[in-house]
Amino acid sequence: MLKGKKILLGVTGGIACYKSPGICSLLRKKGAEVKVVMTKSTTEFVTPLTFQTMSNNVVHVEMFNQLFNMDVEHISLAKWADIIVIAPATANIIGKFANGISDDMLSTVLMASRSKVMIAPGMNTVMLNSVANQKNIQTLKERGVIILDTQTDLLACNDYGSGKMLEPSQIVDEIDRALTPKDLEGKKFVITAGPTVEALDPVRFITNRSSGKMGYALAERAEKRGAKVTLISGPTSIDIPKVENFVRIKSTRDMFDEVGKYFDECDVLIKAAAPADYRPKNYSDEKIKKGHDSDMSSIEMEQNPDIAKHYGNQKKHQILVGFAAESTNVEEFAKEKLAKKNMDMIVANNIKRTDGGFGTDTNVASIITSASIDNLEIMSKVELADEILDRVKKLLS
Ligand code: PMT
Repeated sequence: MLKGKKILLGVTGGIACYKSPGICSLLRKKGAEVKVVMTKSTTEFVTPLTFQTMSNNVVHVEMFNQLFNMDVEHISLAKWADIIVIAPATANIIGKFANGISDDMLSTVLMASRSKVMIAPGMNTVMLNSVANQKNIQTLKERGVIILDTQTDLLACNDYGSGKMLEPSQIVDEIDRALTPKDLEGKKFVITAGPTVEALDPVRFITNRSSGKMGYALAERAEKRGAKVTLISGPTSIDIPKVENFVRIKSTRDMFDEVGKYFDECDVLIKAAAPADYRPKNYSDEKIKKGHDSDMSSIEMEQNPDIAKHYGNQKKHQILVGFAAESTNVEEFAKEKLAKKNMDMIVANNIKRTDGGFGTDTNVASIITSASIDNLEIMSKVELADEILDRVKKLLS
């Protein structure tokens, strides 16, 4: 999580620097403090005032003519940062950093720093792949500097190829990953997310309102905390988090089968999905035609497997975390499910609330075990994911 983190954003003079204020903005929205050091060539593209406004801090360009708080500026900036992120990083700054040249504010701060450093290159394909630049990148990697990928696209110079800087949201995601302690390192998580769909014919299906946000937040945070995550997801339209293994499924039976493939090996199974309890008894290979061969006024249903209950009864060393989506008697029904499905923990959410449950970015949940109930305040699903994972970590130990 980026709340309270101190990020020093170094901006160098590639055309992608017009996107860098967006990085500032996203970081601040996530609660980070941002200071910016620009090279002189960057000021040809974007003014310091833009970064000053977006970072809400003094922007540093010149080496010698600024003395704020009577600090030795390049040293105090270097000490202040939890991470230094250069975005975009030109071939010039990569070359200077790799070879120990410090002839302006940014390269001097880099030289004076013991913090983590992340480089988001942005340049023409030939420059990126040049022998000199690749050698410099290799040198920096060997020193533990995090070098981000680039995108392959039509570049500002009209060449098509690699070298386009990652998007601000991707860079912020990588900063979050780099700053997250790896306290779940090596643990294997299986997380289910989203709805399932139960088909009637090639056109129609029965489903529910789950967006996948809660399960994806859990997968994202578990992965950033070092876990190996298999995310098994029903149909969703949100961005897929970076996980070791992503499995797309449609029906509850598909989800049941996929969980079965990974269950024995996993340490933790989190059932954040909303699987359909019932499916249409009969599936028609052809589209069911109104008024022709069938009566659509009723649909005969049959029960799906209860995935959590089945694997809850099979678990040996695994921790099983379930969810309860309830509209009445939330705590009582959640406790019943905890016991019936042999779960170690259940997260109860009241789906009648407009700021929690299906589709929202926030949730209001109670985390229940056989020994305790924690009624949590409203928070983002990402924050709730960390609350859940903190408790899972305790159970694992
Ligand atoms: O995806 P979002 O839009 O972010 O919404 C999140 C959520 C509301 C879907 C999520 O927070 C949630 O509550 N998921 C559980 C929804 C649900 O199916 O609840 P349930 O009370 O019917 O099921 C209890 C538990 O058994 C759940 O862990 C469920 O995954 C599991 N189950 C249910 C039915 C079934 N056939 N197999 C199961 O494993």
